[in-house]
Amino acid sequence: MLTRKRLSLNPEDSLFFYPMSQDTFKKITAHAKEYGFIFPSSEIYDGLSAVYDYGPNGTLLKNNIKEYWWKAMVQLHENIVGLDAAILMHPKVWKASGHVDAFHDPLIDNKDSKKRYRADNLIEDYMAKIQTKIDKEVKKARKRFGDSFDEEKFLSESPRVLKYKKQIEQIGDRLNKALSNNDLEELKQIIIDLEIADPVSGSRNWTDVKQFNLMFDTHIGAVSGSSSKIYLRPETAQGIFVNFSNVLKTSRMKIPFGIAQIGKAFRNEIIARQFIFRMREFEQMEMQFFIRPGTEKKWFSYWKETRLKWHLSLGFDKNLYRFHDHEQLAHYADAATDIEFKFPFGFKELEGIHSRTDFDLKSHETHSGKKLRYFDPETKETYVPYVIETSIGLDRMFLAVLSASFTEEKLDDGSTRTVLKIPAILAPVKVAVLPLVKKDGLPEIAREIFNELKWDYMINYDEKDAIGRRYRRQDAIGTPYAITVDHQTKEDGTVTLRYRDSMKQERIRITDLKKELNRKLHLRTWLG
Ligand code: GAP
Repeated sequence: MLTRKRLSLNPEDSLFFYPMSQDTFKKITAHAKEYGFIFPSSEIYDGLSAVYDYGPNGTLLKNNIKEYWWKAMVQLHENIVGLDAAILMHPKVWKASGHVDAFHDPLIDNKDSKKRYRADNLIEDYMAKIQTKIDKEVKKARKRFGDSFDEEKFLSESPRVLKYKKQIEQIGDRLNKALSNNDLEELKQIIIDLEIADPVSGSRNWTDVKQFNLMFDTHIGAVSGSSSKIYLRPETAQGIFVNFSNVLKTSRMKIPFGIAQIGKAFRNEIIARQFIFRMREFEQMEMQFFIRPGTEKKWFSYWKETRLKWHLSLGFDKNLYRFHDHEQLAHYADAATDIEFKFPFGFKELEGIHSRTDFDLKSHETHSGKKLRYFDPETKETYVPYVIETSIGLDRMFLAVLSASFTEEKLDDGSTRTVLKIPAILAPVKVAVLPLVKKDGLPEIAREIFNELKWDYMINYDEKDAIGRRYRRQDAIGTPYAITVDHQTKEDGTVTLRYRDSMKQERIRITDLKKELNRKLHLRTWLG
Protein backbone atom coordinates (compact mmCIF):
# COMPACT_ATOMS: atom_id res chain seq x y z
CA MET A 1 0.00 0.00 0.00
CA LEU A 2 1.05 3.53 -0.54
CA THR A 3 1.64 4.85 2.94
CA ARG A 4 5.12 3.79 3.93
CA LYS A 5 5.19 1.59 6.95
CA ARG A 6 7.40 2.74 9.77
CA LEU A 7 9.51 0.53 11.93
CA SER A 8 7.38 -0.53 14.84
CA LEU A 9 7.62 1.85 17.76
CA ASN A 10 6.97 -0.95 20.21
CA PRO A 11 10.17 -1.11 22.25
CA GLU A 12 9.75 -4.85 22.58
CA ASP A 13 10.43 -5.06 18.88
CA SER A 14 13.74 -3.25 18.98
CA LEU A 15 16.86 -4.92 17.74
CA PHE A 16 18.27 -4.68 21.18
CA PHE A 17 15.67 -7.00 22.60
CA TYR A 18 17.24 -9.85 20.67
CA PRO A 19 20.96 -9.63 21.38
CA MET A 20 21.41 -13.38 20.94
CA SER A 21 19.37 -13.42 17.79
CA GLN A 22 21.54 -10.76 16.15
CA ASP A 23 24.39 -13.20 16.43
CA THR A 24 22.23 -15.91 14.90
CA PHE A 25 21.26 -13.51 12.13
CA LYS A 26 24.92 -13.07 11.18
CA LYS A 27 25.30 -16.83 11.07
CA ILE A 28 22.24 -17.15 8.84
CA THR A 29 23.53 -14.60 6.32
CA ALA A 30 26.93 -16.30 6.26
CA HIS A 31 25.30 -19.71 5.85
CA ALA A 32 23.10 -18.40 3.02
CA LYS A 33 26.21 -17.35 1.12
CA GLU A 34 28.34 -20.38 1.92
CA TYR A 35 25.69 -22.83 0.72
CA GLY A 36 24.68 -21.02 -2.45
CA PHE A 37 21.41 -19.47 -1.34
CA ILE A 38 22.15 -15.74 -1.57
CA PHE A 39 25.07 -13.72 -2.92
CA PRO A 40 25.60 -9.95 -2.84
CA SER A 41 24.87 -8.53 -6.30
CA SER A 42 27.93 -7.79 -8.49
CA GLU A 43 30.18 -8.98 -5.68
CA ILE A 44 33.38 -8.85 -7.72
CA TYR A 45 32.79 -5.09 -7.92
CA ASP A 46 32.22 -4.93 -4.13
CA GLY A 47 28.47 -5.41 -4.39
CA LEU A 48 25.53 -3.09 -4.92
CA SER A 49 23.84 -1.92 -1.76
CA ALA A 50 20.58 -3.73 -0.91
CA VAL A 51 20.59 -5.78 -4.10
CA TYR A 52 21.13 -9.54 -3.94
CA ASP A 53 21.40 -12.52 -6.26
CA TYR A 54 20.00 -15.95 -5.56
CA GLY A 55 22.42 -18.85 -5.96
CA PRO A 56 21.66 -22.43 -7.07
CA ASN A 57 19.95 -23.50 -3.82
CA GLY A 58 18.37 -20.09 -3.31
CA THR A 59 16.80 -20.20 -6.76
CA LEU A 60 15.27 -23.60 -6.01
CA LEU A 61 13.91 -22.47 -2.65
CA LYS A 62 12.56 -19.23 -4.10
CA ASN A 63 10.82 -21.05 -6.95
CA ASN A 64 9.31 -23.52 -4.49
CA ILE A 65 7.92 -20.67 -2.34
CA LYS A 66 6.44 -19.08 -5.47
CA GLU A 67 4.86 -22.34 -6.51
CA TYR A 68 3.44 -22.97 -3.03
CA TRP A 69 1.82 -19.53 -3.04
CA TRP A 70 0.66 -19.72 -6.65
CA LYS A 71 -0.96 -23.14 -6.24
CA ALA A 72 -2.64 -22.12 -2.97
CA MET A 73 -4.05 -19.00 -4.63
CA VAL A 74 -4.71 -19.87 -8.27
CA GLN A 75 -4.92 -23.65 -8.47
CA LEU A 76 -6.95 -24.16 -5.31
CA HIS A 77 -9.32 -21.21 -5.83
CA GLU A 78 -11.66 -21.59 -8.78
CA ASN A 79 -12.29 -17.85 -8.73
CA ILE A 80 -8.67 -16.63 -8.86
CA VAL A 81 -6.76 -16.27 -12.11
CA GLY A 82 -3.17 -15.30 -12.82
CA LEU A 83 -1.52 -12.40 -14.58
CA ASP A 84 2.00 -11.43 -15.57
CA ALA A 85 2.01 -7.69 -16.30
CA ALA A 86 5.06 -5.79 -17.56
CA ILE A 87 7.35 -3.99 -15.13
CA LEU A 88 7.27 -0.84 -17.27
CA MET A 89 3.89 0.86 -17.35
CA HIS A 90 2.42 4.09 -18.67
CA PRO A 91 3.62 6.90 -16.36
CA LYS A 92 0.03 8.04 -15.75
CA VAL A 93 -0.51 4.80 -13.83
CA TRP A 94 1.71 6.12 -11.04
CA LYS A 95 -0.01 9.49 -11.03
CA ALA A 96 -3.37 7.75 -10.65
CA SER A 97 -2.12 5.40 -7.92
CA GLY A 98 -0.70 8.33 -5.94
CA HIS A 99 2.90 7.13 -6.10
CA VAL A 100 4.18 10.19 -7.97
CA ASP A 101 2.86 12.56 -5.33
CA ALA A 102 3.01 10.57 -2.14
CA PHE A 103 5.39 7.61 -2.22
CA HIS A 104 8.25 9.10 -0.27
CA ASP A 105 10.35 8.90 2.86
CA PRO A 106 11.77 11.78 4.93
CA LEU A 107 15.47 12.15 4.16
CA ILE A 108 18.17 14.11 5.99
CA ASP A 109 21.84 14.65 5.09
CA ASN A 110 24.74 15.25 7.42
CA LYS A 111 26.65 18.22 6.04
CA ASP A 112 30.02 17.06 7.40
CA SER A 113 30.01 13.35 6.65
CA LYS A 114 27.80 13.75 3.53
CA LYS A 115 25.95 10.66 4.72
CA ARG A 116 22.24 10.35 4.03
CA TYR A 117 19.66 8.98 6.51
CA ARG A 118 15.96 8.44 6.90
CA ALA A 119 15.00 11.03 9.51
CA ASP A 120 12.49 8.70 11.17
CA ASN A 121 15.12 5.92 11.37
CA LEU A 122 17.55 8.20 13.21
CA ILE A 123 14.87 8.91 15.80
CA GLU A 124 13.88 5.26 16.07
CA ASP A 125 17.52 4.28 16.58
CA TYR A 126 17.71 6.84 19.38
CA MET A 127 14.67 5.21 20.99
CA ALA A 128 16.28 1.81 20.60
CA LYS A 129 19.30 3.10 22.51
CA ILE A 130 17.08 4.06 25.43
CA GLN A 131 15.72 0.55 25.24
CA THR A 132 19.25 -0.84 25.67
CA LYS A 133 19.49 1.13 28.89
CA ILE A 134 16.36 -0.66 30.11
CA ASP A 135 17.89 -3.99 29.09
CA LYS A 136 21.05 -3.16 31.04
CA GLU A 137 19.00 -2.30 34.13
CA VAL A 138 17.24 -5.67 33.87
CA LYS A 139 20.54 -7.49 33.49
CA LYS A 140 22.02 -5.77 36.53
CA ALA A 141 18.94 -6.48 38.65
CA ARG A 142 18.88 -10.13 37.61
CA LYS A 143 22.47 -10.48 38.71
CA ARG A 144 21.70 -8.80 42.04
CA PHE A 145 18.51 -10.75 42.90
CA GLY A 146 19.38 -14.11 41.35
CA ASP A 147 16.59 -16.71 41.24
CA SER A 148 14.10 -14.54 43.08
CA PHE A 149 14.19 -11.90 40.32
CA ASP A 150 10.73 -11.05 38.96
CA GLU A 151 11.35 -9.31 35.62
CA GLU A 152 7.76 -8.25 35.00
CA LYS A 153 7.50 -6.61 38.42
CA PHE A 154 10.86 -4.93 37.98
CA LEU A 155 9.86 -3.53 34.58
CA SER A 156 6.66 -2.08 35.97
CA GLU A 157 8.13 -0.67 39.20
CA SER A 158 11.76 0.39 38.82
CA PRO A 159 11.75 4.23 38.76
CA ARG A 160 14.66 4.34 36.34
CA VAL A 161 13.02 1.89 33.93
CA LEU A 162 9.75 3.81 34.14
CA LYS A 163 11.59 7.04 33.32
CA TYR A 164 13.18 5.44 30.22
CA LYS A 165 9.88 3.93 29.13
CA LYS A 166 8.21 7.32 29.38
CA GLN A 167 10.95 8.89 27.26
CA ILE A 168 10.42 6.26 24.56
CA GLU A 169 6.69 6.81 24.63
CA GLN A 170 6.97 10.60 24.38
CA ILE A 171 9.44 10.51 21.52
CA GLY A 172 7.32 7.89 19.77
CA ASP A 173 4.20 10.03 20.05
CA ARG A 174 6.01 13.07 18.71
CA LEU A 175 7.47 11.09 15.83
CA ASN A 176 4.13 9.54 14.91
CA LYS A 177 2.41 12.92 14.92
CA ALA A 178 5.11 14.50 12.76
CA LEU A 179 4.92 11.63 10.27
CA SER A 180 1.16 11.61 9.98
CA ASN A 181 1.06 15.41 9.56
CA ASN A 182 3.90 15.27 7.05
CA ASP A 183 5.62 17.85 9.26
CA LEU A 184 9.23 17.84 8.06
CA GLU A 185 10.28 20.81 10.24
CA GLU A 186 9.10 19.01 13.34
CA LEU A 187 11.04 15.88 12.31
CA LYS A 188 14.22 17.95 12.13
CA GLN A 189 13.33 19.64 15.43
CA ILE A 190 13.06 16.24 17.15
CA ILE A 191 16.55 15.36 15.88
CA ILE A 192 17.90 18.66 17.18
CA ASP A 193 16.11 18.45 20.53
CA LEU A 194 17.41 14.93 21.14
CA GLU A 195 20.89 16.04 20.05
CA ILE A 196 21.11 13.12 17.67
CA ALA A 197 24.53 12.90 16.05
CA ASP A 198 25.57 11.27 12.80
CA PRO A 199 26.39 7.66 13.78
CA VAL A 200 29.43 7.76 11.47
CA SER A 201 31.06 11.13 12.17
CA GLY A 202 29.43 12.23 15.41
CA SER A 203 28.53 15.55 13.76
CA ARG A 204 25.21 17.33 14.49
CA ASN A 205 25.42 19.50 11.39
CA TRP A 206 22.18 18.46 9.65
CA THR A 207 20.40 19.70 6.52
CA ASP A 208 16.64 20.26 6.51
CA VAL A 209 14.47 17.18 6.12
CA LYS A 210 13.27 16.62 2.53
CA GLN A 211 10.79 14.18 1.05
CA PHE A 212 12.46 11.60 -1.18
CA ASN A 213 10.36 9.75 -3.76
CA LEU A 214 11.18 6.07 -3.72
CA MET A 215 10.41 5.28 -7.34
CA PHE A 216 13.27 4.59 -9.73
CA ASP A 217 12.81 6.46 -12.99
CA THR A 218 14.24 5.90 -16.42
CA HIS A 219 13.53 6.94 -20.01
CA ILE A 220 11.76 5.02 -22.69
CA GLY A 221 13.04 5.12 -26.28
CA ALA A 222 16.07 6.92 -27.61
CA VAL A 223 15.14 10.47 -26.61
CA SER A 224 15.47 11.55 -23.02
CA GLY A 225 13.30 14.30 -21.64
CA SER A 226 10.37 14.71 -19.29
CA SER A 227 7.89 13.32 -21.82
CA SER A 228 9.68 9.97 -22.00
CA LYS A 229 10.16 9.54 -18.26
CA ILE A 230 8.81 6.28 -16.91
CA TYR A 231 9.16 4.35 -13.66
CA LEU A 232 10.16 0.87 -12.58
CA ARG A 233 7.03 -0.34 -10.82
CA PRO A 234 7.17 0.02 -7.01
CA GLU A 235 4.41 -2.60 -6.57
CA THR A 236 2.86 -5.23 -8.81
CA ALA A 237 -0.70 -4.35 -7.77
CA GLN A 238 -1.21 -1.59 -10.36
CA GLY A 239 -0.60 -4.04 -13.22
CA ILE A 240 -3.62 -5.92 -11.90
CA PHE A 241 -5.85 -2.85 -11.59
CA VAL A 242 -5.17 -1.61 -15.12
CA ASN A 243 -5.93 -5.09 -16.49
CA PHE A 244 -9.19 -5.46 -14.57
CA SER A 245 -11.42 -5.13 -17.65
CA ASN A 246 -9.19 -7.31 -19.86
CA VAL A 247 -9.28 -10.15 -17.35
CA LEU A 248 -12.99 -9.73 -16.69
CA LYS A 249 -13.80 -9.93 -20.41
CA THR A 250 -11.53 -12.87 -21.18
CA SER A 251 -11.78 -15.13 -18.14
CA ARG A 252 -15.56 -15.39 -17.57
CA MET A 253 -15.01 -14.48 -13.92
CA LYS A 254 -17.89 -13.26 -11.79
CA ILE A 255 -17.54 -11.18 -8.66
CA PRO A 256 -16.18 -12.13 -6.18
CA PHE A 257 -12.99 -13.04 -8.05
CA GLY A 258 -9.28 -12.46 -7.72
CA ILE A 259 -6.25 -11.77 -9.92
CA ALA A 260 -2.90 -13.03 -8.66
CA GLN A 261 0.54 -11.99 -9.79
CA ILE A 262 4.16 -12.64 -8.89
CA GLY A 263 6.79 -10.20 -10.08
CA LYS A 264 9.60 -7.77 -9.48
CA ALA A 265 9.11 -4.43 -7.77
CA PHE A 266 11.66 -1.67 -7.23
CA ARG A 267 12.01 0.90 -4.47
CA ASN A 268 14.93 3.24 -4.01
CA GLU A 269 15.05 2.71 -0.26
CA ILE A 270 17.14 5.40 1.45
CA ILE A 271 18.58 3.01 3.94
CA ALA A 272 18.23 -0.63 3.17
CA ARG A 273 19.22 -2.89 6.00
CA GLN A 274 18.75 -6.34 7.43
CA PHE A 275 19.90 -8.37 4.43
CA ILE A 276 17.03 -9.32 2.12
CA PHE A 277 14.39 -7.85 4.44
CA ARG A 278 14.48 -4.44 2.77
CA MET A 279 15.84 -4.48 -0.76
CA ARG A 280 15.86 -2.06 -3.67
CA GLU A 281 14.88 -4.77 -6.15
CA PHE A 282 12.55 -7.42 -4.79
CA GLU A 283 9.64 -9.64 -5.69
CA GLN A 284 6.04 -9.45 -4.58
CA MET A 285 3.27 -12.05 -4.63
CA GLU A 286 0.05 -10.05 -4.73
CA MET A 287 -3.60 -10.84 -5.18
CA GLN A 288 -6.41 -8.33 -5.67
CA PHE A 289 -9.82 -9.75 -4.81
CA PHE A 290 -12.69 -7.83 -6.44
CA ILE A 291 -15.91 -7.78 -4.44
CA ARG A 292 -19.33 -6.22 -4.22
CA PRO A 293 -19.28 -2.97 -2.16
CA GLY A 294 -20.65 -3.65 1.30
CA THR A 295 -19.05 -7.12 1.56
CA GLU A 296 -15.56 -5.83 2.36
CA LYS A 297 -15.62 -6.68 6.08
CA LYS A 298 -16.53 -10.32 5.39
CA TRP A 299 -13.85 -10.74 2.73
CA PHE A 300 -11.20 -8.92 4.75
CA SER A 301 -11.73 -11.44 7.59
CA TYR A 302 -11.75 -14.31 5.12
CA TRP A 303 -8.40 -13.32 3.63
CA LYS A 304 -6.84 -12.62 7.02
CA GLU A 305 -7.70 -16.12 8.14
CA THR A 306 -6.85 -17.80 4.84
CA ARG A 307 -3.46 -16.18 4.57
CA LEU A 308 -2.51 -17.01 8.15
CA LYS A 309 -3.55 -20.61 7.53
CA TRP A 310 -1.21 -20.71 4.52
CA HIS A 311 1.70 -19.59 6.70
CA LEU A 312 0.83 -22.06 9.46
CA SER A 313 0.54 -24.93 6.95
CA LEU A 314 4.33 -24.90 6.74
CA GLY A 315 4.55 -26.19 10.28
CA PHE A 316 6.74 -23.55 11.95
CA ASP A 317 5.91 -22.55 15.53
CA LYS A 318 2.64 -20.59 15.51
CA ASN A 319 4.12 -18.12 18.00
CA LEU A 320 6.33 -16.82 15.22
CA TYR A 321 3.31 -15.09 13.65
CA ARG A 322 1.03 -12.34 14.81
CA PHE A 323 -1.40 -9.84 13.31
CA HIS A 324 -0.71 -6.15 13.60
CA ASP A 325 -3.88 -4.22 12.80
CA HIS A 326 -3.28 -0.70 11.54
CA GLU A 327 -4.78 2.11 13.54
CA GLN A 328 -3.76 4.84 11.11
CA LEU A 329 -5.20 3.98 7.75
CA ALA A 330 -4.26 5.30 4.33
CA HIS A 331 -6.92 7.60 2.88
CA TYR A 332 -8.28 4.89 0.57
CA ALA A 333 -8.25 1.96 3.00
CA ASP A 334 -11.00 1.06 5.43
CA ALA A 335 -9.03 -1.73 7.14
CA ALA A 336 -5.46 -3.01 7.03
CA THR A 337 -3.43 -5.57 8.90
CA ASP A 338 0.05 -7.03 8.68
CA ILE A 339 0.98 -10.61 9.28
CA GLU A 340 4.16 -10.08 11.24
CA PHE A 341 6.86 -12.70 11.58
CA LYS A 342 9.40 -13.01 14.35
CA PHE A 343 12.63 -12.50 12.42
CA PRO A 344 15.92 -12.78 14.36
CA PHE A 345 15.72 -8.97 14.73
CA GLY A 346 12.18 -8.98 16.10
CA PHE A 347 8.59 -9.06 14.86
CA LYS A 348 8.33 -7.34 11.48
CA GLU A 349 5.87 -7.18 8.60
CA LEU A 350 5.88 -10.19 6.33
CA GLU A 351 2.58 -9.73 4.51
CA GLY A 352 -0.02 -6.99 4.26
CA ILE A 353 -3.77 -7.49 3.90
CA HIS A 354 -5.57 -4.33 2.88
CA SER A 355 -9.17 -3.43 2.28
CA ARG A 356 -8.59 -0.83 -0.48
CA THR A 357 -12.22 0.13 -1.18
CA ASP A 358 -12.79 1.27 -4.80
CA PHE A 359 -9.96 3.82 -4.62
CA ASP A 360 -7.62 2.38 -7.26
CA LEU A 361 -10.17 1.47 -9.93
CA LYS A 362 -11.95 4.82 -9.52
CA SER A 363 -8.71 6.73 -9.74
CA HIS A 364 -7.74 4.85 -12.92
CA GLU A 365 -11.20 5.65 -14.34
CA THR A 366 -10.56 9.34 -13.71
CA HIS A 367 -7.04 9.38 -15.15
CA SER A 368 -7.66 7.11 -18.15
CA GLY A 369 -11.20 8.15 -19.01
CA LYS A 370 -12.10 4.43 -19.32
CA LYS A 371 -14.87 2.79 -17.32
CA LEU A 372 -13.68 0.10 -14.92
CA ARG A 373 -17.03 -1.26 -13.79
CA TYR A 374 -18.87 -4.49 -13.28
CA PHE A 375 -22.44 -5.37 -14.12
CA ASP A 376 -23.68 -7.61 -11.35
CA PRO A 377 -26.17 -10.10 -12.82
CA GLU A 378 -27.56 -10.87 -9.37
CA THR A 379 -28.33 -7.33 -8.22
CA LYS A 380 -28.67 -5.91 -11.77
CA GLU A 381 -26.45 -3.04 -10.68
CA THR A 382 -23.31 -1.64 -12.26
CA TYR A 383 -20.60 -0.59 -9.86
CA VAL A 384 -16.88 -0.08 -9.35
CA PRO A 385 -15.85 -3.15 -7.34
CA TYR A 386 -14.20 -2.91 -3.94
CA VAL A 387 -10.87 -4.68 -3.47
CA ILE A 388 -9.23 -6.76 -0.76
CA GLU A 389 -5.52 -7.08 -1.39
CA THR A 390 -3.08 -9.66 -0.04
CA SER A 391 0.54 -8.68 -0.61
CA ILE A 392 3.59 -10.64 0.48
CA GLY A 393 7.25 -10.05 -0.29
CA LEU A 394 8.76 -13.19 -1.77
CA ASP A 395 12.24 -12.33 -0.50
CA ARG A 396 10.89 -11.59 2.95
CA MET A 397 9.12 -14.95 2.93
CA PHE A 398 12.43 -16.51 1.89
CA LEU A 399 14.12 -14.85 4.87
CA ALA A 400 11.33 -16.01 7.19
CA VAL A 401 11.77 -19.61 6.01
CA LEU A 402 15.54 -19.40 6.30
CA SER A 403 15.51 -17.91 9.81
CA ALA A 404 12.87 -20.28 11.17
CA SER A 405 14.71 -23.26 9.65
CA PHE A 406 18.25 -22.46 10.72
CA THR A 407 19.19 -24.73 13.63
CA GLU A 408 22.44 -25.58 15.37
CA GLU A 409 22.28 -28.83 17.30
CA LYS A 410 24.68 -30.40 19.74
CA LEU A 411 24.96 -34.10 19.00
CA ASP A 412 25.62 -36.94 21.43
CA ASP A 413 29.22 -37.26 20.24
CA GLY A 414 29.86 -33.62 21.22
CA SER A 415 29.92 -32.29 17.66
CA THR A 416 27.53 -29.64 16.33
CA ARG A 417 25.43 -29.99 13.21
CA THR A 418 23.97 -27.06 11.32
CA VAL A 419 20.70 -28.00 9.73
CA LEU A 420 18.10 -26.08 7.77
CA LYS A 421 14.77 -27.55 8.84
CA ILE A 422 13.03 -26.22 5.75
CA PRO A 423 9.51 -27.61 5.31
CA ALA A 424 9.90 -30.54 2.89
CA ILE A 425 7.46 -29.03 0.38
CA LEU A 426 9.75 -25.98 0.03
CA ALA A 427 13.16 -27.66 0.36
CA PRO A 428 15.48 -26.90 -2.60
CA VAL A 429 16.50 -30.55 -2.92
CA LYS A 430 13.95 -33.12 -1.81
CA VAL A 431 16.06 -36.26 -1.71
CA ALA A 432 19.75 -37.17 -1.64
CA VAL A 433 20.65 -40.53 -3.12
CA LEU A 434 23.84 -41.89 -1.59
CA PRO A 435 25.66 -45.18 -2.20
CA LEU A 436 27.28 -46.20 1.11
CA VAL A 437 30.56 -46.94 -0.67
CA LYS A 438 31.86 -46.25 -4.15
CA LYS A 439 32.19 -49.93 -5.09
CA ASP A 440 30.50 -53.35 -4.98
CA GLY A 441 27.83 -52.24 -7.47
CA LEU A 442 26.21 -49.82 -5.00
CA PRO A 443 26.73 -46.66 -7.15
CA GLU A 444 24.97 -48.38 -10.06
CA ILE A 445 21.87 -49.12 -7.97
CA ALA A 446 21.92 -45.58 -6.52
CA ARG A 447 22.15 -44.11 -10.03
CA GLU A 448 19.14 -46.14 -11.08
CA ILE A 449 17.13 -44.77 -8.15
CA PHE A 450 18.31 -41.25 -8.96
CA ASN A 451 17.34 -41.62 -12.63
CA GLU A 452 13.88 -42.83 -11.64
CA LEU A 453 13.11 -40.15 -9.03
CA LYS A 454 14.53 -37.16 -10.90
CA TRP A 455 11.43 -37.01 -13.10
CA ASP A 456 9.35 -36.00 -10.11
CA TYR A 457 11.69 -34.16 -7.76
CA MET A 458 14.93 -32.26 -7.44
CA ILE A 459 17.36 -34.99 -6.37
CA ASN A 460 21.06 -34.89 -5.46
CA TYR A 461 23.34 -37.83 -6.20
CA ASP A 462 26.46 -37.84 -4.03
CA GLU A 463 29.12 -40.52 -3.60
CA LYS A 464 32.05 -38.37 -2.45
CA ASP A 465 33.38 -38.56 1.16
CA ALA A 466 32.26 -40.61 4.15
CA ILE A 467 28.52 -41.05 4.57
CA GLY A 468 28.43 -38.89 7.75
CA ARG A 469 29.91 -35.91 5.88
CA ARG A 470 27.47 -36.38 3.04
CA TYR A 471 24.53 -36.32 5.50
CA ARG A 472 25.88 -33.07 7.02
CA ARG A 473 26.17 -31.50 3.57
CA GLN A 474 22.54 -32.31 2.88
CA ASP A 475 21.46 -31.12 6.36
CA ALA A 476 23.13 -27.78 5.66
CA ILE A 477 21.02 -27.18 2.54
CA GLY A 478 17.84 -28.56 4.10
CA THR A 479 17.35 -31.81 2.16
CA PRO A 480 14.57 -33.56 4.11
CA TYR A 481 15.24 -37.15 2.98
CA ALA A 482 18.33 -39.19 2.20
CA ILE A 483 18.25 -42.60 0.57
CA THR A 484 21.27 -44.75 1.29
CA VAL A 485 22.08 -47.79 -0.80
CA ASP A 486 24.07 -50.35 1.20
CA HIS A 487 25.08 -53.99 0.90
CA GLN A 488 21.72 -55.19 2.18
CA THR A 489 20.12 -53.46 -0.81
CA LYS A 490 21.68 -56.07 -3.07
CA GLU A 491 20.20 -58.85 -0.99
CA ASP A 492 16.64 -57.70 -0.36
CA GLY A 493 15.99 -54.62 -2.55
CA THR A 494 15.60 -52.27 0.41
CA VAL A 495 17.39 -48.99 1.15
CA THR A 496 17.50 -46.76 4.21
CA LEU A 497 15.41 -43.62 4.27
CA ARG A 498 16.95 -41.04 6.59
CA TYR A 499 14.94 -38.17 8.01
CA ARG A 500 16.83 -34.87 8.25
CA ASP A 501 15.21 -33.52 11.44
CA SER A 502 15.22 -36.61 13.64
CA MET A 503 18.18 -38.28 11.86
CA LYS A 504 16.22 -41.53 12.25
CA GLN A 505 16.49 -44.12 9.53
CA GLU A 506 14.10 -46.81 8.38
CA ARG A 507 14.35 -49.50 5.77
CA ILE A 508 12.06 -49.25 2.81
CA ARG A 509 11.67 -51.24 -0.39
CA ILE A 510 12.98 -49.44 -3.49
CA THR A 511 9.67 -50.19 -5.16
CA ASP A 512 7.81 -48.28 -2.40
CA LEU A 513 10.00 -45.16 -2.54
CA LYS A 514 7.97 -43.26 -5.12
CA LYS A 515 4.67 -43.86 -3.37
CA GLU A 516 6.10 -42.82 0.01
CA LEU A 517 7.69 -39.64 -1.35
CA ASN A 518 4.55 -38.73 -3.26
CA ARG A 519 2.57 -38.97 -0.06
CA LYS A 520 5.02 -36.84 1.92
CA LEU A 521 5.43 -34.21 -0.78
CA HIS A 522 1.92 -33.95 -2.14
CA LEU A 523 0.34 -30.50 -1.99
CA ARG A 524 -2.71 -31.98 -0.26
CA THR A 525 -0.55 -33.27 2.61
CA TRP A 526 0.39 -29.64 3.31
CA LEU A 527 -2.60 -27.58 2.27
CA GLY A 528 -5.39 -30.14 2.39
N1 GAP B 1 0.54 -3.40 -3.10
C1 GAP B 1 0.73 -3.26 -1.70
C2 GAP B 1 2.11 -3.05 -1.27
O1 GAP B 1 3.02 -2.94 -2.06
P1 GAP B 1 3.62 -2.85 0.87
O2 GAP B 1 3.25 -3.04 2.31
O3 GAP B 1 4.33 -1.63 0.48
O4 GAP B 1 2.24 -3.01 0.08
C3 GAP B 1 3.90 -5.41 0.45
O5 GAP B 1 4.45 -4.11 0.38
C4 GAP B 1 4.95 -6.41 0.86
O6 GAP B 1 6.09 -6.31 0.01
C5 GAP B 1 5.48 -6.19 2.27
O7 GAP B 1 4.66 -6.82 3.22
C6 GAP B 1 6.85 -6.82 2.20
O8 GAP B 1 6.75 -8.22 2.41
C7 GAP B 1 7.26 -6.59 0.75
N2 GAP B 1 8.19 -5.43 0.64
C8 GAP B 1 7.89 -4.12 0.63
N3 GAP B 1 9.00 -3.37 0.49
C9 GAP B 1 10.03 -4.23 0.42
C10 GAP B 1 11.45 -4.08 0.26
N4 GAP B 1 12.02 -2.88 0.12
N5 GAP B 1 12.22 -5.20 0.23
C11 GAP B 1 11.65 -6.43 0.34
N6 GAP B 1 10.33 -6.62 0.48
C12 GAP B 1 9.52 -5.55 0.51
